[in-house]
Amino acid sequence: MLLSYLRDRLRLTGTKYGCGGGGCGACTVMVSRYQPGTKTILHYSANACLLPVCQLQGAAVTTVEGIGSTKTRVHPVQERIARAHGSQCGFCTPGMVMSMYTLLRNTPQPTMEDIREALGGNLCRCTGYRPIVDGFRTFCQESNCCQGNGNGTAGCCLDGESPPEKSGNGLPPQLFDQGDLLPLDPTQELIFPPELILMAQTEPQMSQRFIGENIVWISPVSLDELIQLKADHPQAPLVIGNTNIGPDIKFKGALHPIIISPTRVQELFAVTRTAQGVYIGAGCSLSVVKALLEGLVQELPEEKTEIYRALLQQLGNVGGQQIRNVASIGGNIVSAYPNSDLNPVLAAGSCKLSVVSKGGRKEILLNKDFLVGFGKTSLKPDEIVLSVFIPVSRKWEFMGALRQAPRKENALATVTSGIRVMFTEGSSVVKELSICYGGVGPCTVSASRTCAAIIGRPWNEQTLSEAYTVLLDEISLSPSHPGGKVDFRRSLTLSLLFKFNLQILHKLWEMVRTGSLLPLQNNFPVVNGQSVDDQVGRPVMHHSAISQATGEAVYCDDIPKTDGELHLVLVTSTRPHAKIRGIDVTEALQVPGVVDVITSKDIPGKKFRTFTGVDEELLAENEVSCVGQMVCAVIADTREQAKRGAAVVKIHYEDLPEPVFTVEEAMEKKSYFQPQRTIERGNVTQAFEEVDQVYEGEIRLGGQEHFYMETQSMVVVPSGEDRELRVYLSCQHPTYAQESIAETLGIPSNRVSCHVKRVGGAFGGKVTKTSAIACITSVAAWRSGRAVRCVLERGEDMLITGARHPVLGRYKVGFMNDGKIIAADLHYYANSGNTADESVLVVEKVLLHLDNAYNVPNLRGHSVACKTNLPSNTAFRGFGVPQSMLVTENMINDVAMKLGRNAEEIREINMYKEVSLTHYKFQFDPKNLLRCWDECKEKSDYDSRRQAAGEFNQKNRWKKRGLAVIPIKYGIAFSEGFLNQAASLVHIYKDGSVLVSHGGTEMGQGIHTKMQQVASRELHIPTSFIHITETSTSAVPNTCPSAASFGTDANGMAVKNACETLYRRLEPVRKQNPTGTWESWVKKAFLQKISLSATGYYRGHDLYMDWEKQEGQPYAYFTYGACCSEVEVDCLSGDYRTVRTDIVTDIGRSINPSVDIGQIEGSFIQGLGLYTMEELQFSPSGVLLTRGPSQYKIPAICDIPLQFNVYLLSDSDNPHAIYSSKGIGEPVLFLGSSVFFAIKDAVAAARAEAGMDGPFTLDSPATPERTCLACNTDFTQKIPPSRPGSFKPWALNIP
Ligand SMILES: Cc1cc2nc3c(=O)[nH]c(=O)nc-3n(C[C@H](O)[C@H](O)[C@H](O)COP(=O)(O)OP(=O)(O)OC[C@H]3O[C@@H](n4cnc5c(N)ncnc54)[C@H](O)[C@@H]3O)c2cc1C
Ligand code: FES
Ligand code: FES
Repeated sequence: MLLSYLRDRLRLTGTKYGCGGGGCGACTVMVSRYQPGTKTILHYSANACLLPVCQLQGAAVTTVEGIGSTKTRVHPVQERIARAHGSQCGFCTPGMVMSMYTLLRNTPQPTMEDIREALGGNLCRCTGYRPIVDGFRTFCQESNCCQGNGNGTAGCCLDGESPPEKSGNGLPPQLFDQGDLLPLDPTQELIFPPELILMAQTEPQMSQRFIGENIVWISPVSLDELIQLKADHPQAPLVIGNTNIGPDIKFKGALHPIIISPTRVQELFAVTRTAQGVYIGAGCSLSVVKALLEGLVQELPEEKTEIYRALLQQLGNVGGQQIRNVASIGGNIVSAYPNSDLNPVLAAGSCKLSVVSKGGRKEILLNKDFLVGFGKTSLKPDEIVLSVFIPVSRKWEFMGALRQAPRKENALATVTSGIRVMFTEGSSVVKELSICYGGVGPCTVSASRTCAAIIGRPWNEQTLSEAYTVLLDEISLSPSHPGGKVDFRRSLTLSLLFKFNLQILHKLWEMVRTGSLLPLQNNFPVVNGQSVDDQVGRPVMHHSAISQATGEAVYCDDIPKTDGELHLVLVTSTRPHAKIRGIDVTEALQVPGVVDVITSKDIPGKKFRTFTGVDEELLAENEVSCVGQMVCAVIADTREQAKRGAAVVKIHYEDLPEPVFTVEEAMEKKSYFQPQRTIERGNVTQAFEEVDQVYEGEIRLGGQEHFYMETQSMVVVPSGEDRELRVYLSCQHPTYAQESIAETLGIPSNRVSCHVKRVGGAFGGKVTKTSAIACITSVAAWRSGRAVRCVLERGEDMLITGARHPVLGRYKVGFMNDGKIIAADLHYYANSGNTADESVLVVEKVLLHLDNAYNVPNLRGHSVACKTNLPSNTAFRGFGVPQSMLVTENMINDVAMKLGRNAEEIREINMYKEVSLTHYKFQFDPKNLLRCWDECKEKSDYDSRRQAAGEFNQKNRWKKRGLAVIPIKYGIAFSEGFLNQAASLVHIYKDGSVLVSHGGTEMGQGIHTKMQQVASRELHIPTSFIHITETSTSAVPNTCPSAASFGTDANGMAVKNACETLYRRLEPVRKQNPTGTWESWVKKAFLQKISLSATGYYRGHDLYMDWEKQEGQPYAYFTYGACCSEVEVDCLSGDYRTVRTDIVTDIGRSINPSVDIGQIEGSFIQGLGLYTMEELQFSPSGVLLTRGPSQYKIPAICDIPLQFNVYLLSDSDNPHAIYSSKGIGEPVLFLGSSVFFAIKDAVAAARAEAGMDGPFTLDSPATPERTCLACNTDFTQKIPPSRPGSFKPWALNIP
């Protein structure tokens, strides 16, 4: 594929690997082709991971390196994403840049809709997308952002509104200055290579053959040749976009010795129009088809374009832009996916296919006789689809295309449909009807019995309600249907038909709003009287943003290969619980290139890694306890060879009985990690006797995959002498990796140096798991004496490294009729997986945060880490807090529902109001919590919007609006006191440049940028003098993990300490020459033998938690916040849209508001993903099914709130952290739950209309499936639930 060719052969590593399957956009490049027919050049974005190099003959490929660099000229696209703070960890940035660059090559002044569409196939896990959009919107002609920095609710200068006031130091409250951005000058762009034009114009077209090790690639030039080839090799696939065949080869191991690539056969790309419709060449890409249909819709009378508009509706949703640019219409049809979006519309629209073969030409109807099964059509192996005929629609004919997917864009549909109705002229009597569905069977399904029941009858409520009964009977699904969601799918068949009915009846069904994103509204505290040179408190750009945007930033797998380097691939358990009876590596060792297979027996030192006193086996020796557990590792000259070797390692298992998967099973078997924890304030049992009402409820919260864009990566290089190893890795805790590797090899820590340049996202997933893999890789390097690289593929990473703990929360709450909660008893069961990892610490933190913002006088909590046979779960941003507080807030919600009041009222009644003690007897002042709450309600205009939502709900039967305001009180620092320390090392060189080293790792959170700001303030020099090269255990030893939102607090103080020392040392020379420059003082100091290097140290808070006494001081301080979200829910499909979100946070005096706002927005969107979208699914035998972006949906650009405002609380001080700032990396994630509770509020409105009041269950994530079923509409009520125990479900209900 082009991706490996670029990265490995050409060493162009700016193009990144994120998933390998076309689902993330990290590998986006621009492909340009000369089109001799029109003499134009076509530019399109494409995923390099799916682009076969052989197919690029005659094409020019532009990568991120090609458009600009720091050595030449940074391109405006690169500059704007960087300056707008749209690059945090930077791993997605080159892909974003290339998608935007391609758009600008085609449309130099795009609209916001163009930008949204262009970026729809690019995922970012850090930023929450807003700053990326804000940076790129500056290219828009009608940039609806206010250049005068008025915005959103404050009004835009274009509307004649005054821009907001300037802040204290005269700076406008904007995060980047649009005034001095590099202009876009299309004449300066790279030109298409003239030699390729010449080649296309002059060189005779010849068929080509590329003969590889396993595949012969044939590219014919004429249709006759193609027909002959297909006759000679009927089993050979025709590869056009490679978006089906590519993933099949890569992920399913499909073998195709011969591949035919017909991309140069003109007939497959021809478009012919007739009065009856249009013939579209089967090779045309979906983007070309979309553009063509858009043109026809503009040109033809509306009544003729029903089918075209329906297709356009679907085409906008098929994959991302990069996929649509290469995937062909013929490929989509012939692939015959069960949930193809096009086939139901084409089939319902009576489209035809022109087919050719040696036997001649024929036309066949695209219907159920053509689509015969899963991935199967009635085409004969030697037949080729030449074109697709799509007819114009007739008067009185209407067509609809409706779908429901786990995410609005770039997600395969759960159910998709094409419905066409033709009425008898002038009446509502149905003459023809065609209803086709995808997602409810092995292939596109036609509901012909239902159609027959409607044809000849008037289209009205009566007819349809009878039709629903037939439809329900006609489309039945086995409860074990692959993909699960059976009840939801069945109800969707009804509700999509009903929605079509609404369309027909009113012709004004409101499409899901893509909306224009309003620009960020923010304010940030500015520093009164602060010198303009002092960089602290300013929105300084991420120190690597530009090199991340140009692709020059080096991530672990970008490090050039060393001579003789080997690749390591892990072999993992396929059984959830079994004894290992033997590992046979004979065949693996015979695979060419394979050098060694590492098993537990080969580990020279400790076979376990130890963390917080818990031992975990590195490679399973005698027993496996989950699918995905590491058993052995194959090393080979290339990654492909190592993979081949790994595939033939034979592990003989003897299954052990009754694996445990769910927390209920764990409870039954008392399968827990110890210790369990309990905490109590007041007398809960007695208080329950004295309350007006008692309610018991529960909520389940699913896990969450970290989905850092850079997968686990490392390179271990033995130095060859003194048993030294240099380890380059992407991790949050290099010291832990160093110590674990040393113990594994049985050598002292001083022989192992770990280096972290930058991390492409971590979120808690690169602490313990990375160290374990690094230990195994080090054993391989140790044994072979050669450098060994291990970079996990996305699927392996998701399988092996665990996720956020799923939690079942049960509670009993006692309250008075006025809403005051008097007693609460909460129980948390965390599904920890097969090893303890950090689970006990996680469940401790669950208990420490169970009060959130509420003063419940009698409060009891009990939490356990359940041991199950699933992959071991680990730390994830928030470390148990997002699970804990969801249960608390759900309990409050239930109390409100019991009392028939708004949840916000109950929240207010129960909030801490004055200086108080928490349930672990820690004193704090909630003043700023209350300020955040009040400001949030005021800025979001909560009261009037709540009223407006009520009015909206009264008027709309199938759409409901909901609101929620959620507070947060989040403890910062490690409750294990010894982790609250940090060190630094600062060198000043003779030229005045400064090198800072500290113990924090740069993972996108901007810690290096903040450290530069700290050093700049303390040394009184501009940040341009200061460089931070990497985090290294050789420079700063015994570091603590970059976690717990404490990195800046700790390392900032250590850097400050070292800089203060140095500045003091320079005092004599400064006094001697007060008007001298920094450089002159430094030179002088050297001559005067003043040391220009200093270490800094911070001995942080002595925090603790005494679980025996149930009291302690586990946190240094609290970060507070509040968030109001409003959603609109489509009750028929469960789809929702976040209409608006307002966040107010108290983060003290921010060191860098742009970095902090980036953390706030990014974590909010990650929380939104956790609570509404991201769903890990396991098969009944414990196999993780969701192993890539195709199955596991993280928020994309379409998911950001239509209006998103972030405010930093003003005049907040924090004596407990550097420069009065506060940690913010984790707290806001929980505020994503405001969207969950807003959905719940909307669902409650729908249920109330159906006569159902009071508390109800809505588990997290509130996916469209759960939301739709909870709405309990007429349609979901028709679906008889499958009887539990009568079938084997497709997926387990975890926790
Ligand atoms: C990340 C991702 C997201 C996607 N999302 C969606 C989605 O939301 N909705 C949806 O409907 N689809 C989706 N798809 C599927 C995608 O639309 C299809 O894979 C694509 O249209 C297939 O076209 P291709 O040219 O890439 O096929 P290829 O992979 O090149 O070929 C696929 C098959 O079609 C056969 N074939 C191709 N052309 C012809 C021809 N002219 N005559 C006979 N046989 C032919 C080939 O022999 C081969 O077996 C997605 C795919 C990916 C990778
Ligand atoms: S790596 Fe190509 S799309 Fe993810
Ligand atoms: S900045 Fe986008 S993934 Fe990190």
